Amino acid sequence: MDRIRIRGGRPLSGEIKVGGAKNAALPLMVAGLLTDDRLILSNVPRLADIQTMGQLLEQHGISVEFVTNDGRILSLGGAITNTEAPYDIVRKMRASVLVLGPLLARVGEARVSLPGGCAIGTRPVDLHLKGLEQMGACFNLANGYIDGKVDGRLRGATIVFPFVSVGATENLLMAATLADGRTVLANAAREPEIGDLAACLVAMGARIEGIGTDTLTIDGVPSLHGAEHSIIPDRIETGSYACAAAISGGSVFLRGARLDHLGATVRILREAGVDVVEEPEGLTIRRLNGLHGVDVMTEPYPGFPTDMQAQFMALMSVAEGASMVTETIFENRFMHVPELNRMGARINVHGASAIVRGVPGLSGAPVMATDLRASLSLILAGLAAKGETIVNRVYHLDRGYEAVEQKLAACGVDIERIAG
Ligand code: UD1
Repeated sequence: MDRIRIRGGRPLSGEIKVGGAKNAALPLMVAGLLTDDRLILSNVPRLADIQTMGQLLEQHGISVEFVTNDGRILSLGGAITNTEAPYDIVRKMRASVLVLGPLLARVGEARVSLPGGCAIGTRPVDLHLKGLEQMGACFNLANGYIDGKVDGRLRGATIVFPFVSVGATENLLMAATLADGRTVLANAAREPEIGDLAACLVAMGARIEGIGTDTLTIDGVPSLHGAEHSIIPDRIETGSYACAAAISGGSVFLRGARLDHLGATVRILREAGVDVVEEPEGLTIRRLNGLHGVDVMTEPYPGFPTDMQAQFMALMSVAEGASMVTETIFENRFMHVPELNRMGARINVHGASAIVRGVPGLSGAPVMATDLRASLSLILAGLAAKGETIVNRVYHLDRGYEAVEQKLAACGVDIERIAG
């Protein structure tokens, strides 16, 4: 298994191009199930999760072709020939469950493996199922699979989510585009990735009002057609490299990054002493003087994202003073804490909060990446640490960060991938 070796102490200096957003690309690929026509997506990130989603769609009968050699443009199209999403693919990537709504809307049946638990919490799919039931679908859960059926077409319904779910909003939004009548999704997630999905669906002929708000109104249409759509830049990759510039005491220009998608992330970074300047083609991030401890709580967008929590905690581990990091989205998302502590951080977890007492410096160590964002927090700690850090289990990183070692090495960081 590959590992990443970092020799810390060098400030970031240079430019990083921000890739397309993984969490926008995955639902956008699933939208390819909503029409037999061609859906052309550009600014596609090169990530393991994109390959996995491609495999899933191919086994539903969709042709998935990378049009250019650089893998940035993806063409999807063709008829659905198989409605089963098998365990072997769903277990690798939870976003697979997004095929449920589109399959029911298009062909009236779907058999999707239950995603089950994962490292950061139990993550059920009850909101997805309840919403689709309100639209006329029936489900039977047996042998680890969700068997879904609908007589005729899905019907529009008013669905009030009890709490905000990105995936459930996306699943129901896609299903509603082809339902009979009007669907209202209240307390919907407002993440920029949902706006991006909605914009693409509109280009495919869907009728959606309220994009960017917490109430989406969808008037179903009989069919959708092909479209071309460019994926938004990845706001989590942006925030992660902003933390890299900050923790290493350097400066980086993030080409393509969008300030208007960063929500609370920029406010919190600025409070911590990080300079964020909007330029015509991206953002410049610089650490001004010292870093200060800042309290953060993860919340649905536009709040501080749970997907930035681990990286921000690494930053806070070397800030002056204490900070409290509270996780409200997932119940078990502090697996990076013991690893950061092995590098000299002083972090204590009390329930859903972690108290981080800033230390003057970290020391390199062999560490284990436990999930996607935790992997990046360990790389960040490695940038600031004295000596050598080896991050094991890099496959988590490859699911969601493209060429991280190349991007950081180009900014002067001493980092390399060790194959094996
Ligand atoms: C998406 C993102 C993930 C991010 C998360 C929260 C993708 C591919 N993944 O995941 O990176 O961390 O949003 O911003 O976009 N829940 C239920 N029942 C449900 C659905 C969700 O209880 O039916 C719970 C989850 O366990 C979690 C919370 O709701 O505690 C939020 O999850 P959700 O927003 O659905 O996350 P995902 O869409 O899985």
